[in-house]
Amino acid sequence: MFSGKTALITGASSGIGEQMARQLAAVGCNLILVARRTERLDSLAGELASVTVDVITADLSDPQAAEAVYAQTQAAGRQVDILINNAGFGFQKPLLSLPVADQLGMVDVNVRSLLALTQRFAAPMAQRGQGWVLNVSSVSAWFPIPGMVTYAASKACVLHLSRALHEELKPAGIVVTALCPGGTRTEFSSIARERMDPDLEKAMMPADVVAAAGLEALASGKAVVVPGALYRIMVSLVRVLPASWVTRLAGRVMGRHH
Ligand SMILES: NC(=O)c1ccc[n+]([C@@H]2O[C@H](COP(=O)([O-])OP(=O)(O)OC[C@H]3O[C@@H](n4cnc5c(N)ncnc54)[C@H](OP(=O)(O)O)[C@@H]3O)[C@@H](O)[C@H]2O)c1
Repeated sequence: MFSGKTALITGASSGIGEQMARQLAAVGCNLILVARRTERLDSLAGELASVTVDVITADLSDPQAAEAVYAQTQAAGRQVDILINNAGFGFQKPLLSLPVADQLGMVDVNVRSLLALTQRFAAPMAQRGQGWVLNVSSVSAWFPIPGMVTYAASKACVLHLSRALHEELKPAGIVVTALCPGGTRTEFSSIARERMDPDLEKAMMPADVVAAAGLEALASGKAVVVPGALYRIMVSLVRVLPASWVTRLAGRVMGRHH
């Protein structure tokens, strides 16, 4: 379905975004790779030489970055058929021990840039009557997490935005899908400085499996996908357990800090 199209992937320099780039290239989809670490993007572009690959260096915590990324695609004459808002990170730190600038930096990357890029790239998709937007949220979207409050709330925002946009943009021919991974083996944990629950460690999923689940859901027009049976059970339990239990449990399992 995506052969001959062009996908712009944010956070393509590692983890889930890098795996999506590899999988899309394998089916003949051209790529625009976005992240801060240019050398990683250049080296990935070199490996994926069977398709056209552009690299854009951008720090998506900069409020002007989304506009600059869009302008660069325009200057290069590239049409974006598929937008993958994957760049994101979280800190596992209590609110009172993480400076507000760091808290807001998470919101800028995880939410602000995602929203700005979606608005920019969805407009021409709507004019063409076809497009795909894959937003990477998290299983954390279902859990308020004491010890990781801003990250969990930012991912809840991504999930809600995506669900609403799925309906709002459907008449324009645009599919919007939220990918909600549970624990996934990437560089995320070391950046979050997570103290991992041993049971959660065992349940970590490979990044390529999570990436494939997201792309498959996007191609089949789903609104939301949660890869992995364990994580689907976790999400369904949230609907039946009292909200205060869910919050306390999430804090115990995912919000422990150093
Ligand atoms: N791993 C998990 O357990 C897990 C679970 C649920 C959801 N997720 C979500 O999955 C997505 C991908 O994360 P991952 O697990 O693949 O982690 P990762 O390996 O750390 O990859 C994160 C990507 O985001 C990019 N990024 C971070 N800050 C950026 C910034 N300011 N500007 C531009 N790019 C930035 C990084 O590139 P540069 O550093 O080169 O800029 C990197 O390519 C994130 O949205 C994350 O929240 C992950």
